[in-house]
Amino acid sequence: MADKKHYTELGLVNTKEMFKKAMADGYAIPAYNFNNMEQLQGITIGCVESKSPVILQCSGSARKYANATMLPFMATGAVKMARDMGSTIPISLHLDHGDSFELAKSCIDSGFSSVMIDGSHHPFEENAALTRQVVDYAHEREVTVEGELGVLAGVEDEVSHEASHYTKPEEVETFVEKTGVDSLAVSIGTSHGAFKFKVKPGEEIPPLRFDILEEIERRVPGFPIVLHGASSVEPEYVKMINAFGGKMDDAVGIPVEQLRRAAQSAVCKINIDSDGRLAMTAMIREVFAENPSEFDPRKYLGPAREELIKMVKYKNEHVLGSAGQA
Ligand code: G3H
Ligand code: 13P
Ligand code: ZN
Repeated sequence: MADKKHYTELGLVNTKEMFKKAMADGYAIPAYNFNNMEQLQGITIGCVESKSPVILQCSGSARKYANATMLPFMATGAVKMARDMGSTIPISLHLDHGDSFELAKSCIDSGFSSVMIDGSHHPFEENAALTRQVVDYAHEREVTVEGELGVLAGVEDEVSHEASHYTKPEEVETFVEKTGVDSLAVSIGTSHGAFKFKVKPGEEIPPLRFDILEEIERRVPGFPIVLHGASSVEPEYVKMINAFGGKMDDAVGIPVEQLRRAAQSAVCKINIDSDGRLAMTAMIREVFAENPSEFDPRKYLGPAREELIKMVKYKNEHVLGSAGQA
C-alpha cells in the first residue's frame, strides 16, 4: 500500500492555473505519459529546457508497472531535478484513464495532483454519477479532475473499442454542470496508439471534427477541453524503426497542422504517449542495429532519453505552443 501524502508535499501543482493561462494565451499544456525513469527524465528535462509547464501522466497499468509506492517518489524526484536545474516550471502528476473511484482515490491519497475518471464507456447518467463521486473526493483535497464524454476508437488501457462515437455537444453542458469536472476529454476523430487510421494509397487522413469542437466551445465557453490520442506518429521515427529491424509499416498519426489548430482553441491539454514510445524505440533499434554486441542499458537507454528530450522540446515549441510559457 502506497504511503498517504498530499501532492503539495511533493512539490506538485494541480492543473487549474495551468489551464487558465493556456486558455487565455491560446496554447495547450503537454501531457506526456511515462512509466520508467528514462521517460520521466526525458520529459522533465525537455520541458525544463523549453520552459514549458508539464503534466506527467500515467495510466493505471503504468502505475502498476512503475510500482504505486515508488511512483510519487519518482515524481517528486523529477520536481527536485527541475529545481536543481534552476527551473520553476509547474509540474502536475496525473492519472490517465482512471476507470474506478477506488483507483482515483488511491492515486489522490498517494500524491497525485490530478486524476482522470474515464466513464465514457458507461451510459451518460452512470458516467456522470461516477465522475461526480470522484470530483467530490478530489475537490475536498484540491485535486483537479478530468472527465470524458464520447468514445475514441482504439484501445484505452484495458477497454477496447471497435469504433469511435463522437462527443455529442448537446450533452457537454449538462455533464459539466452535473459533475463539476475541471476539464473534459472529447472525441473528435483522434484515436490511441500508432495506427490511428487505415489510409489506402492516394487517400487523405480524415480531418478532425473541428465543427464538433467549435460547437462544444460555443456551449461551454472558456471550459478546458482535452485531446487524447494526439500523437502525430512522426514518419521520421517510423522510418527509423522499419530501417533497423522493426515492422510498423502502416503507422500513422494526427497531422501536426491539425494539432496546432487544436492547441490554439479551447483544447488546453494534449495527450502524447505513442510519440514518446516511437522516439525511444527508434533510437534503441538504431543502437542495437549498429552495435549488436551492446548490452549496457545506459548505452541504449541514454541515447533513447536524449531523443525523447529532443522530441519533447520540438512538440512544445512547434506544436503545442507551451514553450516559453513557464
Ligand atoms: O491512453 C492510453 C495511454 O496511451 C496509456 O497506455 O495503458 O499502455 O499505459 P497504457
Ligand atoms: P497517443 O496514443 O496518440 O499518444 O495518445 C495518448 C493518450 O491519449 C493517453 O491518454
Ligand atoms: Zn487517452
